[in-house]
Amino acid sequence: MSTVIVLGVQWGDEGKGKVTDFLAASADVVIRCQGGNNAGHTVVVGDACHKMHLIPAGILNPDATCVIGNGVVVDIEVLLEEMRHLQEQNIPMGKLLLSDRSHLIMPYHKKLDELQEKLKGDKKIGTTKRGIGPAYIDKVARTGIRMGDLLNAEHFKQKLIANLEEKNHLFASYGEETMNIDAIVAQYEKLIPQVAPMIVDTVSLINEAITAGKKVLFEGAQGTLLDIDHGTYPFVTSSNPTAGGVCVGAGVGPTRINRILGISKAYTTRVGSGPFPTEIFDEMGDKIREEGAEYGVTTGRPRRCGWFDGVVARYSTMVNGFTDLAITKIDVLDKLSEIKICVAYELNGETIHHFPGDLDVLAQCKPVYETMPGWLTDTSKVRSYADLPENAKKYLQRISELSEAQVSIVAVGPDREQTIVINELFK
Ligand code: GDP
Ligand code: IMO
Ligand code: MG
Repeated sequence: MSTVIVLGVQWGDEGKGKVTDFLAASADVVIRCQGGNNAGHTVVVGDACHKMHLIPAGILNPDATCVIGNGVVVDIEVLLEEMRHLQEQNIPMGKLLLSDRSHLIMPYHKKLDELQEKLKGDKKIGTTKRGIGPAYIDKVARTGIRMGDLLNAEHFKQKLIANLEEKNHLFASYGEETMNIDAIVAQYEKLIPQVAPMIVDTVSLINEAITAGKKVLFEGAQGTLLDIDHGTYPFVTSSNPTAGGVCVGAGVGPTRINRILGISKAYTTRVGSGPFPTEIFDEMGDKIREEGAEYGVTTGRPRRCGWFDGVVARYSTMVNGFTDLAITKIDVLDKLSEIKICVAYELNGETIHHFPGDLDVLAQCKPVYETMPGWLTDTSKVRSYADLPENAKKYLQRISELSEAQVSIVAVGPDREQTIVINELFK
């Protein structure tokens, strides 16, 4: 048994795509387990820069089977466009499979996402407007359309019409334009034959691969603090981007997981609304944003930037049971003479080490910082842990202590090559 889960420690965009691609070079199966095309996972290999939203980053290994698992919500128009785009770059799609149990994001979900955000006004979540929340609402309400439904044309059409009629009532009640049922039915009749051959029972496939001793990699999307249960609710996404969510979203038991790798930036970023205790509001924040090219892959929005938060990291280890960490973007801090690191919060004059669940309490928490000396050395060409500057090693050690997990990978640049392995993940 050789299984590794890749997860975001913070609020997403930690470098999961880069690390997944790196580990996928030796994986047999790579699986996306939750979320949808709200994700934007970047993989840089030499001059090529790939931005994946739905397709697992393992697709760049032509020998790996790539799976969109049952926990994912899939916009098939986006999927087909992403496949076309990768094929134009000579990346084969032959081993891409879709779970028959995954749910579809339909045009009305995107319209609802837009509308609900508009109605929230300045209380908006800042969603990616990809229809993620509304698609998961239908899943939980047991009215969603599943990928497997596409294999029975008449059954699919009946479900689609019932859903559209219901959503049109809703749009009309908001004074919004209704959607044309015939046009959407016709649109999907064209799309179905293009995805039908990829639809299979991925749960059996994944479990059989694990039993056969294949190397299986689970690619989390989003991050722990965006988790619907454990994140900064309501400023979260609508799935569980945590270790438990991966098991549910792929259909594997927790006893079948060997390693759980948390991916964390050497600092912190967040896109969209919601609390962020270590956010930096002065020029230092702008400096990190520019140095780290911190602009969203999916929406292009500038990412909010802040210092590494040890309270968040330890909380994330607790919720996920990380066995290992990958710390990315160390190189972004190369030019700083001093680096702050949050070791606790101060709440009403007391020092606390836990991450509060109540946003009003969290809003009163002030980060307690330690200041560490920078290394003022270019790390982007370093390829072994031993060759990292001493101050960078000390910084990584402090991150490891605060996070209560060992650092097994360090990234010093976006390229696949710019990766330092301390402990091998796949045995
Ligand atoms: P993901 O959503 O977790 O896959 O992360 P994103 O792809 O949204 O954002 C991470 C960004 O940082 C991408 O532009 C990556 O190419 C880039 N990146 C990843 N690791 C490193 C690193 O170690 N150094 C630098 N400079 N960039 C990195
Ligand atoms: P990756 O996989 C960063 C954020 C959105 C918003 C909130 C809810 O690239 O790390 P949603 O569209 O999911 O309903 O939006 O979640 N969000 C992400 N932030 N990285 C992501 O994915 C994200 N996916 C969703 O910005 O605040
Ligand atoms: Mg991203």
